[in-house]
Amino acid sequence: MHKIIPFQSIDSTNSYLKENFKSLAEGDVCFSLHQTGGKGRRGRVWQDEGKDLLFSILFLEGLNEKLALALPLLSGAAVAQTLVGLGFDPKIKWPNDVLLNDKKCCGILVEGVSETSIDAIISGIGINLNEDSFPEDIAYKATSLHIQSGLIYDPKEVLSLFLKEFDELYEDYKRGGKRYLTLIRERFYLLGKEVYLNYHNENLSGSVEGIDDEGSLLLNDGKRVHHLISGEVSLEKTYKR
Ligand code: BTN
Repeated sequence: MHKIIPFQSIDSTNSYLKENFKSLAEGDVCFSLHQTGGKGRRGRVWQDEGKDLLFSILFLEGLNEKLALALPLLSGAAVAQTLVGLGFDPKIKWPNDVLLNDKKCCGILVEGVSETSIDAIISGIGINLNEDSFPEDIAYKATSLHIQSGLIYDPKEVLSLFLKEFDELYEDYKRGGKRYLTLIRERFYLLGKEVYLNYHNENLSGSVEGIDDEGSLLLNDGKRVHHLISGEVSLEKTYKR
């Protein structure tokens, strides 16, 4: 069971858990209808108009580097399964963007708190639920569940569907299972595509061959196959860090 800590508005559900983790418990969820300082990956902002599902989950047990690397993938796989349950056909753009009809409908930001060793890990998830449209500069790459289906979604209901999917995948992971990787492979947006990224200060490009058993992306640059543990791949010729 997850304890839900609900807000009408907060700066960031990730920040709330980071600031309060010492008085909270494993699996607690911070949920808000709106964020005034929502955070995206790589220092970007995550803006919302009160129409998204915005929440973060706190992890305090079994913390290690392996879990920190698995959580973006576990979270993305659970979002994809949730959307399948709602009648969609999502794809996962490694490591954790979830796409509907080639457009992003969900972003995931996993953050660690390290005061001594790893003290807490937070997985923060934003799903575009009920937007009718997006600003012109992102409309070509963003979508919402409502745009795709014409329906209106209740954030708390979608959260509860998500938590059920997540718990199943996470229990499997804790037993040593890799169901989350099977699901990602089944819905693998990048497979066979030519991609570009900057990886540890090196510009890399090549074709995506798959995902290994640790969740790393297999990128064949024509000379060798790289195993990339994280990064932001682009389908356009830009080398993002
Ligand atoms: C990205 O794609 O750049 C990741 C976006 C993550 C946004 C979510 S919304 C809930 C949680 N709180 C935050 O401040 N960020 C994450």
